Amino acid sequence: MAKKYRNTGRKRNVLLLFLLVSCNVFILMATLYQLLESKQLLEESVTASTELTNDVSSYFAGSGDDEFSDPTQWSITKTQEQFSAILSNYTLTGSNVNNFDFPYLFNPSGICNVPRSINNVFVLMMTPISPLKADKRAVIRNVRGRLKEVDGYQIRHVFVMGRPTVNVSSILNTLKLESDTFMDLVVLDFDDSYYNLTLKTMMLLRWAVTYCPNAKYVMKVDDDVFVNLDNLIPLLSEAPREGYAVGYVYVQSKPIRKTWNKWYVSEEEWSYEFYPPYPTGPAYVLSMDVARAVLKSARRIRMFRMEDVYIGMNLLKLSIKPVHHNGFDRYGICQSLPCCVRNVIATHYITSVRMATLPRRMEQLNYTKSCHATKVIKKIHRLELS
Ligand SMILES: *[C@@H]1O[C@H](CO)[C@@H](O)[C@H](O)[C@H]1NC(C)=O
Ligand SMILES: *[C@@H]1O[C@H](CO)[C@@H](O)[C@H](O)[C@H]1NC(C)=O
Ligand SMILES: *[C@@H]1O[C@H](CO)[C@@H](O)[C@H](O)[C@H]1NC(C)=O
Ligand SMILES: *[C@@H]1O[C@H](CO)[C@@H](O)[C@H](O)[C@H]1NC(C)=O
Repeated sequence: MAKKYRNTGRKRNVLLLFLLVSCNVFILMATLYQLLESKQLLEESVTASTELTNDVSSYFAGSGDDEFSDPTQWSITKTQEQFSAILSNYTLTGSNVNNFDFPYLFNPSGICNVPRSINNVFVLMMTPISPLKADKRAVIRNVRGRLKEVDGYQIRHVFVMGRPTVNVSSILNTLKLESDTFMDLVVLDFDDSYYNLTLKTMMLLRWAVTYCPNAKYVMKVDDDVFVNLDNLIPLLSEAPREGYAVGYVYVQSKPIRKTWNKWYVSEEEWSYEFYPPYPTGPAYVLSMDVARAVLKSARRIRMFRMEDVYIGMNLLKLSIKPVHHNGFDRYGICQSLPCCVRNVIATHYITSVRMATLPRRMEQLNYTKSCHATKVIKKIHRLELS
């Protein structure tokens, strides 16, 4: 009896040990898998983007104002030549289907007025954020909010949000204090909700073209993205000043047709197999003329839930091909590894805690010594940064 009992005990220990070991192995495998998968995704997107379809216009060529407002009615049969011909004649004469004229509750309208002696604003960074996330704003403000000038280029930053949908008056009071103190909150009178993200992006563009019209570029950047200005500024200083849109571009992404999925898109919302090319949401940059054009065309194109896809629809209508750049680390491959972040323009999935410490950790970086640990990641990124 006793022996049997002890045996079982040993068996249990062996089992525990086995579980422990396999757990570790599993974690190791999972990490490796994640790394490989990210790498694969990157490679896939590189392939996809080198084929950046010239013929994509022939998928989605629109035929004019009559069909303008309803993307599902866009003709997909026109050839590129026909499309170009139409666009060269193209004027926006259709009727507005979207109203963007929400009043401002708070508006830091003067922040782009720079003294005449210095250059105009170069990049206006805009972070859409929930009105409830004051803590996160404090972190972001410290990281990218206080930068006014980098290498002689003027940088400005504002947060953009709608009206809170809960505890409205108390939160608006708190926002007022925050707004008075920091002068960087653009708050508009529409419901700040997840499914109003597209509207929020349009409001962001509207503020940019109205109150910062001389800025060369507008960068839309999410609240979980870290921006490395040391790479962004050189990229933009060499970039075209007009007709330019850049980010991590999806070229042939497909709508999700599984009804249980949160991102399910019905045939009615979008009937084609592919979306138009679009710079993915976490971070993208538009030259000011593109921001202006998108805002104008968007009044006439039915809104779509995914703000980045919607930007793509507008770019397509305007015949602007977004430029793909792997330096926009959409998959957050860098995590918050300073050596990796050093090589990118923007990196995704950065928590507040990591965002807060990253600038300091990058400053402290001893390139010769501590960057070996991230060799693999560096290798991935060496491929992309040109
Ligand atoms: C462009 O506009 C002109 C003048 O309205 C018209 O004659 C011509 O057919 C148009 N071309 C196309 C391709 O729509
Ligand atoms: C709204 O106010 C109530 C009562 O003060 C509080 O318990 C709740 O956490 C608040 N909700 C949000 C989202 O701030
Ligand atoms: C978006 O905001 C508008 C204006 O406040 C509101 O009428 C609408 O219900 C909101 N939509 C969603 C999905 O929250
Ligand atoms: C960086 O690391 C290298 C190699 O270990 C060392 O020689 C160098 O002094 C370090 N530099 C700093 C600034 O710590």
